[in-house]
Amino acid sequence: MQGRKVLSNLVANQLIHEKYGGVVPELASRAHQKNIVPVVAEALAQAQIKPTDLDAIAFTSGPGLMGSLLVGGAFAKSMALALDIPLLAVHHMQAHILAHFIDDGTQTAPEFPFLCLTVSGGHTQLIRVVNPQTFEILGQTLDDAAGEAFDKLAKMLGLPYPGGPVVDRLAREGNPHAFVFAKPSIPDLNFSFSGLKTSFLYFLQRSVQQNPDFITQNLNDICASGQAAIVQVLMDKLQKAVAKTGITRIAIAGGVSANSGLREALQEAASKNGWHIHIPPVAFTTDNAAMIGITGYFQYLSGNFAPLDVKIEARKTGL
Ligand code: KG4
Ligand code: ZN
Repeated sequence: MQGRKVLSNLVANQLIHEKYGGVVPELASRAHQKNIVPVVAEALAQAQIKPTDLDAIAFTSGPGLMGSLLVGGAFAKSMALALDIPLLAVHHMQAHILAHFIDDGTQTAPEFPFLCLTVSGGHTQLIRVVNPQTFEILGQTLDDAAGEAFDKLAKMLGLPYPGGPVVDRLAREGNPHAFVFAKPSIPDLNFSFSGLKTSFLYFLQRSVQQNPDFITQNLNDICASGQAAIVQVLMDKLQKAVAKTGITRIAIAGGVSANSGLREALQEAASKNGWHIHIPPVAFTTDNAAMIGITGYFQYLSGNFAPLDVKIEARKTGL
């Protein structure tokens, strides 16, 4: 990053996860080890800068998979030490939110305070964002994340990992009202997706028992209806959060914010209710380096540097 502008934003290929139908932590950390040196070299080359041009190194200190975090953390610490520049320890979920502040010429940064619905493979959170350092969790999932609900539905349908983008694509040709699934009833602004997952499972088991070709014959409708059910849960809570806080500036973030059903539902609700919405470019929705860079940028400005022995926290709670 240079200020809020991205000079390069590389993601190593994720084919290893597809091969095993999910993330195998040990394989993920080995892939990190193998990829980190060439990916950093390529990122510098694309940005057309030398390591000695860097002012600081930002890295993810959590939450996430311990092995992968350790690889990134050890590499970042060594590089900061070798170059004698500050180290910036970034919180993964803050980074998803702050991706809205990347200046890529297409997006307008939200004004503070705003609400952010962060929906990823590991988290589902409703956040009141006060400033780039202050985040208040209004609600979060009590069990599975929204991304997991997509991935699990996809798995039940025999689709590849990660399932979210595949379900999204197939849903475009389907009827979202074809099938109805049990809605969770969780109080306040918290979420639950495990009941919906069970509802998908029982529905598919029952239907396949009656017609062995049920899934292939109804794939688009199942995806569209499953997606609509997940999106409905998210939108209901968002409406509640707006009612509770009175804040009508709303952003979505995280891998699931790439979902076209969620994007459409948000746009509809916004024009109906007069909300100001911020939908990130798809490149900044799923995990990416630029979101870590922009968060590091804000931390650099406020002098929030990390010591070389900063803790790596796989299960970081709070924000
Ligand atoms: O934020 P992310 O890249 O990683 C985590 O921090 O977890 O989110 C990954 C999740 C996966 O569950 C993936 O299936 C989901 O985001 N995802 C989608 C779409 N693109 C990615 N879910 C629904 N529709 C999409 N278009
Ligand atoms: Zn993420």
